[in-house]
Amino acid sequence: MRQAGRYLPEYRAIRQNTASFLDLCFDPKLAAEVTLQPIRRFGFDAAILFSDILVVPHALGQRVSFEQGDGPRLDALDEPAALQRLRRQLEHGVLAPVYETAARVKQDLPAAVALLGFCGAPWTVATYMVGGGGSADQSAARRFAYRYPTEFAVLIDILVEASADYLIRQFKAGVDAVQIFDSWAGVLPPGQFQKWCIEPCSRIVALVRKSVADAKIIGFPRGAGTKLTAYAADVPVNAIGLDWMIELGFARERIQSLRPVQGNLDPLVLAVGGDALDQQIDAIMEAFAPGPFIFNLGHGVLPETPLAHVERLIARVRDTRSAGR
Ligand code: CP3
Repeated sequence: MRQAGRYLPEYRAIRQNTASFLDLCFDPKLAAEVTLQPIRRFGFDAAILFSDILVVPHALGQRVSFEQGDGPRLDALDEPAALQRLRRQLEHGVLAPVYETAARVKQDLPAAVALLGFCGAPWTVATYMVGGGGSADQSAARRFAYRYPTEFAVLIDILVEASADYLIRQFKAGVDAVQIFDSWAGVLPPGQFQKWCIEPCSRIVALVRKSVADAKIIGFPRGAGTKLTAYAADVPVNAIGLDWMIELGFARERIQSLRPVQGNLDPLVLAVGGDALDQQIDAIMEAFAPGPFIFNLGHGVLPETPLAHVERLIARVRDTRSAGR
Protein backbone atom coordinates (compact mmCIF):
# COMPACT_ATOMS: atom_id res chain seq x y z
CA MET A 1 0.00 0.00 0.00
CA ARG A 2 1.01 3.62 -0.17
CA GLN A 3 3.31 4.31 2.75
CA ALA A 4 4.99 7.50 1.53
CA GLY A 5 2.95 10.68 1.32
CA ARG A 6 1.48 13.69 2.97
CA TYR A 7 1.25 12.30 6.53
CA LEU A 8 5.08 12.52 6.64
CA PRO A 9 6.57 15.98 7.28
CA GLU A 10 9.72 14.99 5.39
CA TYR A 11 7.57 14.12 2.34
CA ARG A 12 5.70 17.42 2.50
CA ALA A 13 9.02 19.28 2.67
CA ILE A 14 10.21 17.68 -0.59
CA ARG A 15 6.82 17.91 -2.29
CA GLN A 16 6.61 21.65 -1.53
CA ASN A 17 9.73 22.23 -3.59
CA THR A 18 8.70 20.24 -6.66
CA ALA A 19 6.61 21.88 -9.35
CA SER A 20 4.25 18.95 -9.79
CA PHE A 21 3.61 15.46 -8.45
CA LEU A 22 4.72 13.89 -11.76
CA ASP A 23 7.98 15.87 -11.63
CA LEU A 24 8.62 14.18 -8.30
CA CYS A 25 7.81 10.72 -9.74
CA PHE A 26 10.25 11.34 -12.62
CA ASP A 27 13.14 12.68 -10.51
CA PRO A 28 15.09 9.53 -9.54
CA LYS A 29 17.07 11.19 -6.77
CA LEU A 30 14.03 12.70 -5.05
CA ALA A 31 11.74 9.73 -5.75
CA ALA A 32 14.35 7.41 -4.22
CA GLU A 33 14.58 9.66 -1.19
CA VAL A 34 10.79 9.71 -0.76
CA THR A 35 10.71 5.89 -1.10
CA LEU A 36 13.27 5.54 1.70
CA GLN A 37 11.70 8.05 4.10
CA PRO A 38 9.15 5.69 5.68
CA ILE A 39 11.79 2.95 5.98
CA ARG A 40 14.18 5.24 7.85
CA ARG A 41 11.48 6.56 10.13
CA PHE A 42 9.61 3.35 10.90
CA GLY A 43 11.82 0.40 9.91
CA PHE A 44 9.20 -1.35 7.79
CA ASP A 45 10.09 -4.77 6.34
CA ALA A 46 9.53 -3.58 2.77
CA ALA A 47 9.68 -0.36 0.76
CA ILE A 48 7.31 0.47 -2.09
CA LEU A 49 8.73 2.33 -5.05
CA PHE A 50 7.55 5.92 -5.19
CA SER A 51 5.70 6.48 -8.45
CA ASP A 52 2.05 6.30 -9.53
CA ILE A 53 -0.14 3.93 -11.50
CA LEU A 54 -0.96 6.77 -13.92
CA VAL A 55 2.59 7.04 -15.30
CA VAL A 56 1.51 4.21 -17.63
CA PRO A 57 -1.19 6.21 -19.48
CA HIS A 58 1.28 9.10 -19.51
CA ALA A 59 3.82 6.85 -21.27
CA LEU A 60 1.08 5.77 -23.71
CA GLY A 61 0.70 9.39 -24.77
CA GLN A 62 -2.30 10.50 -22.72
CA ARG A 63 -2.03 13.81 -20.89
CA VAL A 64 -1.97 13.28 -17.08
CA SER A 65 -1.72 15.88 -14.34
CA PHE A 66 -2.32 16.00 -10.60
CA GLU A 67 -4.11 19.03 -9.24
CA GLN A 68 -3.35 19.85 -5.62
CA GLY A 69 -6.09 18.39 -3.43
CA ASP A 70 -8.15 17.42 -6.47
CA GLY A 71 -6.67 14.09 -7.55
CA PRO A 72 -5.54 13.09 -11.06
CA ARG A 73 -6.79 14.70 -14.29
CA LEU A 74 -6.47 13.06 -17.72
CA ASP A 75 -7.80 13.94 -21.17
CA ALA A 76 -10.78 11.57 -21.06
CA LEU A 77 -10.99 8.84 -23.73
CA ASP A 78 -14.73 9.26 -23.80
CA GLU A 79 -15.48 7.65 -27.17
CA PRO A 80 -13.94 4.75 -29.11
CA ALA A 81 -12.31 7.02 -31.72
CA ALA A 82 -10.24 8.61 -28.92
CA LEU A 83 -8.31 5.32 -28.57
CA GLN A 84 -6.57 6.21 -31.84
CA ARG A 85 -4.67 8.90 -29.95
CA LEU A 86 -2.90 6.30 -27.79
CA ARG A 87 0.41 4.63 -28.48
CA ARG A 88 0.19 0.85 -28.78
CA GLN A 89 3.31 0.39 -26.68
CA LEU A 90 4.95 2.16 -23.77
CA GLU A 91 7.48 4.86 -24.48
CA HIS A 92 10.13 3.44 -22.15
CA GLY A 93 12.16 6.65 -22.39
CA VAL A 94 9.39 8.39 -20.42
CA LEU A 95 9.57 5.72 -17.71
CA ALA A 96 13.37 5.42 -17.56
CA PRO A 97 13.50 7.66 -14.44
CA VAL A 98 11.20 5.20 -12.63
CA TYR A 99 13.52 2.30 -13.43
CA GLU A 100 16.45 4.40 -12.27
CA THR A 101 14.64 5.17 -9.01
CA ALA A 102 14.16 1.43 -8.42
CA ALA A 103 17.86 0.74 -9.03
CA ARG A 104 18.91 3.54 -6.67
CA VAL A 105 16.57 2.46 -3.89
CA LYS A 106 17.65 -1.16 -4.18
CA GLN A 107 21.25 -0.09 -3.77
CA ASP A 108 20.51 2.02 -0.69
CA LEU A 109 18.14 -0.34 1.10
CA PRO A 110 19.44 -2.71 3.78
CA ALA A 111 19.61 -6.24 2.33
CA ALA A 112 16.85 -7.48 4.65
CA VAL A 113 14.34 -4.90 3.39
CA ALA A 114 12.40 -5.90 0.27
CA LEU A 115 11.66 -3.46 -2.53
CA LEU A 116 8.20 -3.65 -4.07
CA GLY A 117 7.42 -2.35 -7.53
CA PHE A 118 3.87 -1.95 -8.78
CA CYS A 119 1.45 -1.09 -11.53
CA GLY A 120 -2.27 -0.44 -11.73
CA ALA A 121 -4.39 -3.28 -13.06
CA PRO A 122 -5.75 -2.67 -16.59
CA TRP A 123 -9.33 -2.16 -15.38
CA THR A 124 -8.37 0.41 -12.72
CA VAL A 125 -6.04 2.33 -15.04
CA ALA A 126 -8.70 2.25 -17.78
CA THR A 127 -11.27 3.79 -15.41
CA TYR A 128 -9.04 6.85 -15.02
CA MET A 129 -8.22 6.94 -18.75
CA VAL A 130 -11.86 6.81 -19.83
CA GLY A 131 -13.32 8.97 -17.07
CA GLY A 132 -10.51 11.53 -17.06
CA GLY A 133 -10.09 11.17 -13.28
CA GLY A 134 -11.60 9.59 -10.20
CA SER A 135 -15.30 9.55 -9.27
CA ALA A 136 -17.51 7.79 -6.73
CA ASP A 137 -18.04 4.66 -8.84
CA GLN A 138 -16.03 5.13 -12.08
CA SER A 139 -19.29 4.88 -14.04
CA ALA A 140 -17.81 6.43 -17.20
CA ALA A 141 -15.59 3.39 -17.78
CA ARG A 142 -18.35 0.96 -16.85
CA ARG A 143 -20.67 2.66 -19.33
CA PHE A 144 -17.96 2.56 -22.03
CA ALA A 145 -17.30 -1.16 -21.37
CA TYR A 146 -21.02 -2.03 -21.68
CA ARG A 147 -21.57 0.11 -24.77
CA TYR A 148 -18.39 -0.68 -26.68
CA PRO A 149 -17.04 -4.02 -25.37
CA THR A 150 -14.88 -4.65 -28.46
CA GLU A 151 -13.19 -1.26 -28.30
CA PHE A 152 -12.85 -1.48 -24.52
CA ALA A 153 -11.12 -4.85 -24.95
CA VAL A 154 -8.60 -3.15 -27.26
CA LEU A 155 -7.78 -0.66 -24.49
CA ILE A 156 -7.47 -3.48 -21.94
CA ASP A 157 -5.18 -5.42 -24.31
CA ILE A 158 -2.90 -2.39 -24.69
CA LEU A 159 -2.79 -2.06 -20.89
CA VAL A 160 -2.06 -5.76 -20.35
CA GLU A 161 0.99 -5.57 -22.62
CA ALA A 162 2.12 -2.20 -21.26
CA SER A 163 1.73 -3.24 -17.61
CA ALA A 164 3.60 -6.51 -18.11
CA ASP A 165 6.44 -4.67 -19.90
CA TYR A 166 6.53 -2.09 -17.17
CA LEU A 167 6.73 -4.70 -14.39
CA ILE A 168 9.42 -6.68 -16.23
CA ARG A 169 11.55 -3.52 -16.45
CA GLN A 170 11.05 -2.93 -12.74
CA PHE A 171 12.27 -6.46 -11.98
CA LYS A 172 15.30 -5.90 -14.22
CA ALA A 173 16.00 -2.70 -12.26
CA GLY A 174 16.06 -4.62 -8.99
CA VAL A 175 12.62 -4.83 -7.36
CA ASP A 176 12.06 -8.02 -5.33
CA ALA A 177 8.31 -8.32 -5.88
CA VAL A 178 5.50 -6.34 -7.46
CA GLN A 179 1.90 -5.53 -6.61
CA ILE A 180 -0.93 -5.12 -9.13
CA PHE A 181 -3.40 -2.56 -7.76
CA ASP A 182 -6.96 -3.14 -8.93
CA SER A 183 -8.38 -0.39 -6.75
CA TRP A 184 -11.69 -0.26 -8.67
CA ALA A 185 -12.27 -4.02 -9.01
CA GLY A 186 -15.17 -3.76 -6.55
CA VAL A 187 -17.50 -1.82 -8.86
CA LEU A 188 -17.61 -4.68 -11.39
CA PRO A 189 -20.51 -7.17 -11.32
CA PRO A 190 -19.39 -10.84 -11.49
CA GLY A 191 -19.37 -11.39 -15.30
CA GLN A 192 -17.54 -8.13 -15.86
CA PHE A 193 -15.18 -8.91 -12.97
CA GLN A 194 -14.17 -12.11 -14.75
CA LYS A 195 -13.64 -10.29 -18.05
CA TRP A 196 -11.98 -7.06 -16.93
CA CYS A 197 -10.25 -8.03 -13.67
CA ILE A 198 -9.47 -11.77 -13.51
CA GLU A 199 -8.54 -12.34 -17.15
CA PRO A 200 -6.31 -9.27 -17.71
CA CYS A 201 -4.54 -9.73 -14.36
CA SER A 202 -3.91 -13.42 -15.15
CA ARG A 203 -2.46 -12.46 -18.52
CA ILE A 204 -0.10 -9.95 -16.89
CA VAL A 205 1.13 -12.60 -14.43
CA ALA A 206 1.78 -15.05 -17.29
CA LEU A 207 3.60 -12.46 -19.42
CA VAL A 208 5.80 -11.30 -16.54
CA ARG A 209 6.75 -14.88 -15.63
CA LYS A 210 7.73 -15.56 -19.25
CA SER A 211 10.57 -13.05 -18.76
CA VAL A 212 11.13 -13.33 -15.00
CA ALA A 213 10.40 -16.97 -14.20
CA ASP A 214 10.34 -16.63 -10.42
CA ALA A 215 8.60 -13.22 -10.32
CA LYS A 216 6.79 -12.70 -7.00
CA ILE A 217 3.47 -10.97 -7.62
CA ILE A 218 0.82 -9.69 -5.19
CA GLY A 219 -2.70 -9.01 -6.48
CA PHE A 220 -4.96 -6.42 -4.82
CA PRO A 221 -8.54 -6.50 -6.15
CA ARG A 222 -9.98 -3.87 -3.81
CA GLY A 223 -13.64 -4.22 -2.92
CA ALA A 224 -13.95 -7.63 -4.60
CA GLY A 225 -15.86 -9.10 -1.63
CA THR A 226 -17.05 -12.66 -2.31
CA LYS A 227 -15.59 -12.42 -5.84
CA LEU A 228 -12.22 -12.84 -4.10
CA THR A 229 -12.70 -16.61 -4.18
CA ALA A 230 -12.75 -16.60 -8.00
CA TYR A 231 -9.77 -14.23 -8.07
CA ALA A 232 -7.78 -16.43 -5.66
CA ALA A 233 -8.63 -19.56 -7.64
CA ASP A 234 -7.92 -18.17 -11.12
CA VAL A 235 -5.22 -15.47 -10.89
CA PRO A 236 -1.89 -17.22 -10.22
CA VAL A 237 -0.45 -14.54 -7.95
CA ASN A 238 1.85 -15.36 -5.03
CA ALA A 239 -0.23 -13.44 -2.50
CA ILE A 240 -3.49 -11.54 -2.27
CA GLY A 241 -3.90 -8.08 -0.77
CA LEU A 242 -7.12 -7.79 1.23
CA ASP A 243 -9.01 -4.55 1.72
CA TRP A 244 -10.43 -3.71 5.17
CA MET A 245 -14.03 -4.42 4.17
CA ILE A 246 -13.66 -8.18 3.91
CA GLU A 247 -14.79 -10.41 6.75
CA LEU A 248 -11.81 -12.01 8.51
CA GLY A 249 -13.29 -15.49 8.89
CA PHE A 250 -14.28 -15.61 5.23
CA ALA A 251 -10.83 -14.44 4.16
CA ARG A 252 -9.05 -16.96 6.37
CA GLU A 253 -11.13 -19.92 5.27
CA ARG A 254 -11.70 -19.14 1.61
CA ILE A 255 -8.68 -17.07 0.57
CA GLN A 256 -5.76 -17.75 2.91
CA SER A 257 -6.36 -21.47 2.39
CA LEU A 258 -5.49 -20.93 -1.30
CA ARG A 259 -2.84 -18.19 -1.20
CA PRO A 260 -0.86 -16.12 1.31
CA VAL A 261 -2.74 -12.97 2.26
CA GLN A 262 -1.69 -9.39 3.00
CA GLY A 263 -3.71 -6.80 4.89
CA ASN A 264 -6.03 -5.54 6.02
CA LEU A 265 -6.23 -2.78 8.65
CA ASP A 266 -8.71 0.02 7.94
CA PRO A 267 -6.55 3.11 7.21
CA LEU A 268 -9.18 5.18 8.99
CA VAL A 269 -8.72 3.30 12.28
CA LEU A 270 -4.99 3.97 11.99
CA ALA A 271 -5.79 7.68 11.71
CA VAL A 272 -8.17 7.48 14.73
CA GLY A 273 -5.90 5.37 16.98
CA GLY A 274 -6.66 4.36 20.57
CA ASP A 275 -8.53 1.21 21.59
CA ALA A 276 -10.25 0.91 18.22
CA LEU A 277 -6.83 0.60 16.58
CA ASP A 278 -5.53 -1.96 19.10
CA GLN A 279 -8.64 -4.09 18.78
CA GLN A 280 -8.50 -4.19 15.01
CA ILE A 281 -4.79 -5.06 14.99
CA ASP A 282 -5.42 -7.91 17.42
CA ALA A 283 -8.35 -9.27 15.44
CA ILE A 284 -6.29 -9.32 12.23
CA MET A 285 -3.30 -10.97 13.88
CA GLU A 286 -5.50 -13.59 15.46
CA ALA A 287 -7.24 -14.38 12.19
CA PHE A 288 -4.24 -14.50 9.87
CA ALA A 289 -0.94 -14.73 11.73
CA PRO A 290 -0.97 -18.54 11.98
CA GLY A 291 -0.98 -18.88 8.18
CA PRO A 292 1.12 -17.31 5.44
CA PHE A 293 0.54 -13.63 6.12
CA ILE A 294 1.93 -10.11 5.56
CA PHE A 295 0.54 -7.53 7.95
CA ASN A 296 -0.44 -4.38 6.05
CA LEU A 297 -3.17 -1.81 5.71
CA GLY A 298 -6.27 -2.51 3.65
CA HIS A 299 -5.50 0.62 1.56
CA GLY A 300 -3.01 3.51 1.63
CA VAL A 301 -2.09 5.65 4.67
CA LEU A 302 -4.40 8.69 4.97
CA PRO A 303 -2.82 12.17 5.02
CA GLU A 304 -4.28 12.97 8.48
CA THR A 305 -2.63 9.93 10.13
CA PRO A 306 -0.57 10.83 13.25
CA LEU A 307 2.98 9.44 13.18
CA ALA A 308 2.56 8.10 16.73
CA HIS A 309 -0.24 5.80 15.58
CA VAL A 310 2.02 4.21 12.97
CA GLU A 311 4.67 3.64 15.65
CA ARG A 312 2.07 2.10 17.95
CA LEU A 313 0.90 -0.21 15.17
CA ILE A 314 4.38 -1.48 14.40
CA ALA A 315 5.18 -2.12 18.06
CA ARG A 316 1.93 -4.00 18.60
CA VAL A 317 2.28 -6.21 15.53
CA ARG A 318 5.91 -7.04 16.34
CA ASP A 319 5.13 -7.74 20.02
CA THR A 320 2.32 -10.07 19.10
CA ARG A 321 4.51 -11.91 16.63
CA SER A 322 7.47 -12.31 18.97
CA ALA A 323 5.13 -13.52 21.73
CA GLY A 324 4.07 -16.23 19.28
CA ARG A 325 0.42 -15.36 19.72
O1 CP3 B 1 4.37 4.82 -0.68
C1 CP3 B 1 4.66 4.96 -1.87
O2 CP3 B 1 5.73 5.39 -2.27
C2 CP3 B 1 3.63 4.46 -2.85
C3 CP3 B 1 3.51 5.24 -4.08
C4 CP3 B 1 2.14 5.23 -4.71
C5 CP3 B 1 1.48 6.41 -5.09
N1 CP3 B 1 0.35 6.07 -5.78
C6 CP3 B 1 1.94 7.79 -4.82
C7 CP3 B 1 0.92 8.87 -4.71
C8 CP3 B 1 1.36 4.15 -5.10
C9 CP3 B 1 1.57 2.66 -4.87
C10 CP3 B 1 0.23 4.70 -5.79
C11 CP3 B 1 -0.82 3.87 -6.42
C12 CP3 B 1 -2.04 4.53 -6.92
N2 CP3 B 1 -2.19 5.76 -7.51
C13 CP3 B 1 -3.31 3.89 -6.95
C14 CP3 B 1 -3.57 2.45 -6.51
C15 CP3 B 1 -3.62 2.34 -5.05
C16 CP3 B 1 -4.76 3.08 -4.42
O3 CP3 B 1 -4.45 4.00 -3.65
O4 CP3 B 1 -5.92 2.74 -4.73
C17 CP3 B 1 -4.23 4.79 -7.52
C18 CP3 B 1 -5.71 4.56 -7.72
C19 CP3 B 1 -3.50 5.97 -7.88
C20 CP3 B 1 -4.02 7.19 -8.55
C21 CP3 B 1 -3.87 8.38 -7.68
N3 CP3 B 1 -2.67 8.99 -7.37
C22 CP3 B 1 -4.90 9.12 -7.04
C23 CP3 B 1 -6.38 8.78 -7.10
C24 CP3 B 1 -4.28 10.17 -6.35
C25 CP3 B 1 -4.95 11.30 -5.60
C26 CP3 B 1 -5.39 10.87 -4.24
C27 CP3 B 1 -4.57 11.55 -3.18
O5 CP3 B 1 -4.35 10.90 -2.15
O6 CP3 B 1 -4.21 12.72 -3.35
C28 CP3 B 1 -2.88 10.04 -6.53
C29 CP3 B 1 -1.86 10.94 -5.97
C30 CP3 B 1 -0.75 10.28 -5.21
N4 CP3 B 1 -0.08 9.16 -5.60
C31 CP3 B 1 -0.18 10.76 -4.00
C32 CP3 B 1 0.87 9.88 -3.68
C33 CP3 B 1 1.83 9.99 -2.53
C34 CP3 B 1 -0.60 12.04 -3.26
C35 CP3 B 1 0.04 13.18 -4.03
C36 CP3 B 1 0.45 14.36 -3.18
O7 CP3 B 1 -0.43 15.00 -2.64
O8 CP3 B 1 1.64 14.66 -3.12
